[in-house]
Amino acid sequence: MGRSVTEIRAMKAEKKKITVLTAYDAAMARLLSDCGVDALLVGDSLGMVVLGYDSTVPVTMDEMIHHAKAVRRGAPDTFIIGDMPYGSYQTGVRDAVLNGIRFIKDAGCDAVKLEGGVSVCPVVKGLVEAGVSVMGHIGLTPQSAGQLGGYKVQGRGLDDARRMLYEARALEEAGVFSMVIECVPDSLVKVITESVSVPTIGIGAGIHCDGQVLVTHDLVGMFEKFTPKFVKKYANLSPLIKEAVTAFHDEVRAEKYPEEEHSFTSKVDYRQLLDE
Ligand code: KIV
Ligand code: NA
Repeated sequence: MGRSVTEIRAMKAEKKKITVLTAYDAAMARLLSDCGVDALLVGDSLGMVVLGYDSTVPVTMDEMIHHAKAVRRGAPDTFIIGDMPYGSYQTGVRDAVLNGIRFIKDAGCDAVKLEGGVSVCPVVKGLVEAGVSVMGHIGLTPQSAGQLGGYKVQGRGLDDARRMLYEARALEEAGVFSMVIECVPDSLVKVITESVSVPTIGIGAGIHCDGQVLVTHDLVGMFEKFTPKFVKKYANLSPLIKEAVTAFHDEVRAEKYPEEEHSFTSKVDYRQLLDE
């Protein structure tokens, strides 16, 4: 049975590590929920991982909803977080609330996630007041990677670190039930994790977070474009898929597939049809 916001929050106090993985379709959602993963994130990483964009920026609300619905169908009882895409929460609290509610009402998500610190606190408050549970996301925030100087570690210097701790506390104050921390030195993440009462979910953020999130396609070795340092490939599926597809291609060309066991047979002599 799926978790609730209350349970996810309680796991921090119980020191039980939280697992979150991305899902973009029903098939993967089912596999992940069968494994007991605590929450599924319909991440806007979908843009790069399955839609073929160069960044997460072009991803639209409609694309997110389309995939979030599929994830919900594949994992009807699992806690699902919809990632608010760029443009869906930057134009004001009202727009953000309307889009957040779409994730809940149209796609059946349990919560939404959005990137940023102090600047998004009014939006976080608006969503929470409207009854939408919100996960924060600080550190490396891919939607604004351009402003951050690319995909690189955040909060290294003491001033940046102080700022990040301030942002984390502000998000907690605004009402997030949890927050993602991405690409931040592990010792700073330890300080932040000890300073907020809501669970921190790390990606490239070391062992001290209350939980970990990864892009599933990275974890199983199905995204070949690049692999960040923080990814552990628990499997390497791409070569296996290529091997299988190459074997199919070769066997079809060699007329070895399909064999009789893959075919439907009949005793009727259909050749007479040629004479009709
Ligand atoms: O879009 C995504 O997959 C994410 C996670 C990596 C946290 O935001
Ligand atoms: Na994201």
